[in-house]
Amino acid sequence: MTETVRILFVCLGNICRSPTAHGVFLKRLADAGLSVSVEVDSCGTAGWHVGKSPDPRAIAAAAERGYDLSQLRARQFCPTDLGHYDYVLTMDHNNLSEIAGHGYEGARGRPELFLNYASRNDTDEVPDPYYGGQDGFGRVLDLIENASDGLIRHIKEHHS
Ligand code: 4NP
Repeated sequence: MTETVRILFVCLGNICRSPTAHGVFLKRLADAGLSVSVEVDSCGTAGWHVGKSPDPRAIAAAAERGYDLSQLRARQFCPTDLGHYDYVLTMDHNNLSEIAGHGYEGARGRPELFLNYASRNDTDEVPDPYYGGQDGFGRVLDLIENASDGLIRHIKEHHS
């Protein structure tokens, strides 16, 4: 039977960073042509934006680089996600602490920072761009593209 690797990206609102990670990772994964099957989703620790599209600034910045986020819809993190996903990858330390508060009983893997997979080491967090300008979304994309490629390399090494 073919193995499926399950990946969940987590931020606070699920309208800026984690949907960006979701869309960028899916496209780069498709371009990488991996043999392993991968399931991807994203969510937020907060429920404020459930059911909404990503922030228009995130959609626009991603579209400039060829990623389509327009079909994604926000959902809230649920503790049962820990039993389903192999990789629960948070954008910052606050998201990680929030998830850790639910405990890890029955978890498939230990939640961790997404930037653990980045080859650059100038920061370990994807900064929240929500209250800033459009340039914050470009920085989010730079960090996420780099970590996505690192995660794809990791999956190739450990799951193919
Ligand atoms: P995200 O950004 O966690 O990257 O989706 C935010 C989106 C919304 C809010 C905060 C951060 N908010 O306060 O509504």
